[in-house]
Amino acid sequence: MLLQEFLASEQARVDAALERLTPPESQHPATIHRAMRYSLFAGGKRIRPILCVAGAAAIADHVPGALEAGCALEMIHTYSLIHDDLPALDNDDFRRGKPTCHKVFGEAMAILAGDALFTLAMQTLVSINGLEPARIVALVHELSFSAGTVDGMIGGQVTDIEGEKQPPTPELLHLIHHAKTGALLRASVRMGGVCAGANTTQAAALSSYGEHVGLAFQIVDDILDVEESSEALGKTAGKDAAQGKITFPAVYGLDASKAMAQEQCRLAHETLTPFGDRAQRLHEIADLIVHRKS
Ligand code: IPE
Ligand code: IPE
Ligand code: MG
Ligand code: MG
Ligand code: MG
Repeated sequence: MLLQEFLASEQARVDAALERLTPPESQHPATIHRAMRYSLFAGGKRIRPILCVAGAAAIADHVPGALEAGCALEMIHTYSLIHDDLPALDNDDFRRGKPTCHKVFGEAMAILAGDALFTLAMQTLVSINGLEPARIVALVHELSFSAGTVDGMIGGQVTDIEGEKQPPTPELLHLIHHAKTGALLRASVRMGGVCAGANTTQAAALSSYGEHVGLAFQIVDDILDVEESSEALGKTAGKDAAQGKITFPAVYGLDASKAMAQEQCRLAHETLTPFGDRAQRLHEIADLIVHRKS
């Protein structure tokens, strides 16, 4: 199967699972379920669930729980986007090609929709059938720590916001990108490994792959913010410079940033040696992350 077909079929599987795992709009109190679904189904690329499933597939076929674990990652990611767009954070009106959650449902409901997606992610993990309890605990551990304050997504968001008032140094840049984006992407492949029962060597290789694609992903996000249009991105372009964000282009310039993304991609490929042909999709996803236009 070609990569584009694989991505389309995985996105459809993720969407169907999210549909099943998320309370219907009619469920009382309806407003929160409408707000959660509005952002969840606004058209994300589903990179994190696809990484989770591909990470599992590098080890074994038909791995139980990998799709649900991927959905939990997408819930946390969508919550992070809803909160990232709030007026108190990046103050963005446009996300996934649509008005942001707070623009449609108001700030109170957007804050609660983010909170609710976090909660739903944990409910999703602890409800996975057919996976031994120790693996479920390991999944909760991975996801909750990667979203947390110490080297995790929230910690990265804090440093990102406080960085707006500081000079853009390489040290601060790496601290921000490793945590705000890298941690969840690294957790995505690691969680696939947990579901598949990865051994120590396999888990280390997946971690290392996740580190490199995680960093490449945010370097490219920063480059796209400079080079692409809001229409192409489905979110407001040019915001990072306007808000004084510490980004790769701000610290190193565009050309050096592109070279660094390529280098992270090359390193990501190298980490996959232990998996041989089973890692075909992970190889392709690394290239996709660096060459994407949105
Ligand atoms: C955007 O993530 C936010 C970052 C962490 C850089 P994605 O580019 O994966 O956004 P969606 O899920 O496709 O909307
Ligand atoms: C956001 O980084 C990372 C998150 C944890 C959501 P950005 O602020 O660069 O993400 P975009 O560009 O708004 O998607
Ligand atoms: Mg931000
Ligand atoms: Mg933002
Ligand atoms: Mg960005």
